[in-house]
This record gives sequence, C-alpha cells and structure tokens, in this order.
Amino acid sequence: MTKIIWMSDPHLQAEGTIDGLDPRKRLDAAIAFINAHHADADFAVLTGDLVGDDIAGDYAAIAQHLAVSHIPIHPLMGNNDDRAGFRASLALPETAMPGFVQYRLDMANATYLFLDTHKVGSHAGQFCAARQAWLDDALGKSPGKPAYIFMHHPPLALGLPKQDEIMLEDAAAFLDLMTAHNNVKHLFMGHVHRPTAGTVRGIPFATLGAVSFQAPGPRPAWDWDSFKPAKEAPQLGVLLIEDETVVLQYTQFCEYAVGVEV
Ligand SMILES: [Fe+2]
Repeated sequence: MTKIIWMSDPHLQAEGTIDGLDPRKRLDAAIAFINAHHADADFAVLTGDLVGDDIAGDYAAIAQHLAVSHIPIHPLMGNNDDRAGFRASLALPETAMPGFVQYRLDMANATYLFLDTHKVGSHAGQFCAARQAWLDDALGKSPGKPAYIFMHHPPLALGLPKQDEIMLEDAAAFLDLMTAHNNVKHLFMGHVHRPTAGTVRGIPFATLGAVSFQAPGPRPAWDWDSFKPAKEAPQLGVLLIEDETVVLQYTQFCEYAVGVEV
C-alpha cells in the first residue's frame, strides 16, 4: 500500500497575516501532525499556492518550514506561485519538465504526476500544448500502469461561483488527454480551499480544504469584495492507495483557533 499525505494552499508569508490568520502557525501545525502521526507515509504532496503575497523571502521561508518534515514533500505550482522563486528555494526531481514545475514519481505499482497549471499574470489556470505533450508522453510510457494526478486548478466547474471563474482554461484539451489514455485513476486538485468530490468523464476527483484559510461555501452568496474566510478548521488528506483502491481520509490537523489573532 502507498500512503500519501495531501496538503494544499499554505499561502505562506515570511511575515504578516492573511485576514488575521498567521499562515506559518497553520503550516507548522500540519507538519507537526504529520511527524507525530504519519511519519510512515511514503511522501506528502502540496498542491500549490505555496506563498500568498509575492513577498521576497516567502519561498526561502517555506523551504525552512517544510524541511522539518520527516517525510519528503513534493510541491507544485498554484496561481499565487512564481516559477523562478519556486525553483530558487525548492528542489525539483530530475524528471522535471524543462521550463515548468511539472514532474513525475514512478513507484512500483503506480505513477504519480505533479502538474504545473500556472498561467503567468492570471489567477486562472493554463495547460498549454507543451505541458499537454509532456503529460501525453508520461501517460503513454506505461499504458497499463495506474496514474494519479495532482494539480492546482480544477479542469471543471464545481458550482463554487467565484472559484469557477478562475478554473483551468484548457479544461477540454486536458480532459481529452485523460480520456485518450485509460490509466488515469484519480485527480487531486487544490485552489478552491474547500473539500469536494465527484467524477469527470468517469474519472474520480477530489479537492481539499487549505492548510491556511478556508473558503466559504457558495451559499450565502459572496464575492471577492465581501470575502471572509469561513471559520472552519484546516485539513489535510490521508490517501491510502492499493491495487487501484483509493481511500481519502479528510483529516483535521489542528483547531480553527490555531494561528487566528484574537
Ligand atoms: Fe489558494
């Protein structure tokens, strides 16, 4: 069995708060929880939005916070990330695609793919022809081997009105690629700061609450001007994968009050 700890959207800032929330305390609580309870996991994955505010030093800071983890953590790009800043502080494996933060991890029974859906200058996502070609090649290498995909931007609308406006722009091309291969068994996405689950073209997907702040649900209606984080505790996902059976345990790793200024 492969055990993976899934985290998303830490929005780490070297200093300061986000709407009164200290993102460093939340990330530290997540890492401490993993070290205490899930040090037997094969690896962790961080599905984007590593930093929040483009403050110089944020990447160096998150590298230090992640270095405390007892298990390897594979990070990927979100809309708030910056490829140059990311690469300057976080190591990428040899399989990384040139020019993008996109790479794969080959294990005995499955391939794990970490995609780069960042679009420079936009909060919406992009999966351009070059990234599509890399994924097409990666999926085609082992046609019968299960593949699991981690990415930031959902390739479908989730009924979350504001987030749906900044989903993956190249969703149709991405999903065509999924159905052109028969080995993609699950998609795991960040970005929306809320847990959702379903299927798209028959492929199961899930999203996750953030390590940092949580987005409110679609009702009552809200917009970015009136946005206030939901007073919900953060979460991480524990993934248990064996013989194409996938179990996702949504797991609260600290109280809501951790990191909240009073
Ligand atoms: Fe985010």
